[in-house]
Amino acid sequence: MDRVRMGIMPSTGIRLDKVTYSVGGRLILQDFDLSLDRGVNRTILGVSGAGKTTILKLILGLIPPNSGSITIDGTEITGLSEARLREVRRPIAVVFQGGALFDSMTVGENVGYRLIEQGTKNPAEIERVVLEKLGFVGLEDAIDLYPAELSGGMKKRVAIARALAADPGYILFDEPTTGLDPIGVYNICELMRRLQQQGKTTLMVTHDLHTAFQVSQRFSFLHEARLVFEGTREELMAAGMEVTREFLSPTPRSLFAYTSPERTTA
Ligand SMILES: Nc1ncnc2c1ncn2[C@@H]1O[C@H](COP(=O)(O)OP(=O)(O)O)[C@@H](O)[C@H]1O
Ligand SMILES: [Mg+2]
Repeated sequence: MDRVRMGIMPSTGIRLDKVTYSVGGRLILQDFDLSLDRGVNRTILGVSGAGKTTILKLILGLIPPNSGSITIDGTEITGLSEARLREVRRPIAVVFQGGALFDSMTVGENVGYRLIEQGTKNPAEIERVVLEKLGFVGLEDAIDLYPAELSGGMKKRVAIARALAADPGYILFDEPTTGLDPIGVYNICELMRRLQQQGKTTLMVTHDLHTAFQVSQRFSFLHEARLVFEGTREELMAAGMEVTREFLSPTPRSLFAYTSPERTTA
């Protein structure tokens, strides 16, 4: 720890410290702390609109916090130039909710996109990486197809292959199984488990409990701009907090009690 502070060892991990973020007069995150150490996996649960995607956007520096600190491997990202930010977030890959594939590019071009852009590998090396990553998600045969020719689950797998192409240290998943059929859900969960076995650092945000329990050992629960719970599945089940209980097993009461709360900064 002292060695880190003295600057001898670089500190690693992604850290949000007392981050506050509001948009359109609504407070989305307040004094929000999060740390993601290398090699761990973590899931943040929360209802739709709770601020889960916002957390990922803040980590990527796509939106600036109103206050607080966000560091990636020891570097504060708020206020960095675009060029420096790109460099600092290079170890981070994101699998966006919709997959965010380029429709005009083939699967292979999508997966190799970042590598082509970086310009540090020759075409033969890029093709080798693309095939390897497509192999990992079981889609080598789809290399020449276009996104429109794929099912929703296949698109998500291509998005994972693309995220892996630049060999990231951290992989962030935004609702990776939402909208998929049971086989699609199974495939994505299995891929995420394999990534964890390889020692990858993964952060998933989702409202899908089933997926969370399949993939993660530790959970955080986002409610009204803060993390109100952190712990294991057993601890979550036993927590006995009204909000987590309602989330785990909604009742007719939730029709009235658990609509998206109005949080204002006023
Ligand atoms: N540009 C914006 N203007 C106003 N409100 C926004 C904007 N972007 C997001 N929000 C609000 O911020 C809240 C959190 O959004 P988000 O992080 O996408 O939630 P989640 O991913 O948990 O569903 C939502 O209530 C959303 O309506
Ligand atoms: Mg979202």
